Amino acid sequence: MSDAPLIKAARALASAKHAIAFTGAGISAESGIPTFRGSGKDSLWSKFKPEELATPEAFERNPKRVWEWYVWRMNLIRKAKPNPGHEALAKLEALGVIKAVVTQNVDGLHQRAGSRHVIELHGSIWRVKCSNPACTFKASISEPPKEIPPKCPACGHYLRPDVVWFGEPLPQDAWGEAVRLAEVSDTILVVGTSGAVYPAAYIPLIIKEGGGTVIEVNVVESSITPYADVFLKGKAGEVLPKLLEAVTKLL
Ligand code: OAD
Repeated sequence: MSDAPLIKAARALASAKHAIAFTGAGISAESGIPTFRGSGKDSLWSKFKPEELATPEAFERNPKRVWEWYVWRMNLIRKAKPNPGHEALAKLEALGVIKAVVTQNVDGLHQRAGSRHVIELHGSIWRVKCSNPACTFKASISEPPKEIPPKCPACGHYLRPDVVWFGEPLPQDAWGEAVRLAEVSDTILVVGTSGAVYPAAYIPLIIKEGGGTVIEVNVVESSITPYADVFLKGKAGEVLPKLLEAVTKLL
């Protein structure tokens, strides 16, 4: 990558009135957490069928199998550490350059890296909720449940991960906040997402359509690249620290 796009991106961020970041699984790849799509042999959907694991129907059919997959992911995530990409975003927020991180990730690594204003569009693997629609039980967890599938202490139905599955709506409060932030932002830093999953992928589009600047960091081109104003090709853990350094010089 030549320095020119990096400088262009740094200028856009340093002069932005209101910038946010929008992240996907690619930012956690260097922490050892597999992405969903992509050519990598480690991408989750090349090994598992989403319809067998990440749908409400799959959970109804076989809650134990779905939980086994989540326990496997929880253990991976628990051992993982935030990488320099997460850390650079936390520093950009501390500097006031970005106001928030809107993420599709459920791993909690942004918060562990020090990001404070994180909007989780797809929920969190570190929360459970009751699968009975009539029950409102929700709880935070810090380790995988000992017995799976775990049961709701309030009503006895099975608990499920508090994440968004295919065919489910996004949590209303998170989605509302993400749209509100996008509507007041003039710049967005998109990192490590294929941009394939809606409605999440509308967030950078809202900023583009409002005349704002879209900066993208990815190892390959994505569905967002055709409308990105600046494309920074490379790994998040390498590009974001360089971008932070370049922005800091301009402040
Ligand atoms: P994807 O797996 O679809 O895309 C990951 C993106 O990260 C790809 O574009 C990769 O090229 C890029 N990437 C990989 N390694 C990278 C690195 N080191 N640095 C920068 N980029 C890198 O993940 P998402 O876009 O997050 O939803 O997927 C969106 C949603 O689809 C997920 O939240 C999940 C999934 O189904 C639900 O589970 C509801």
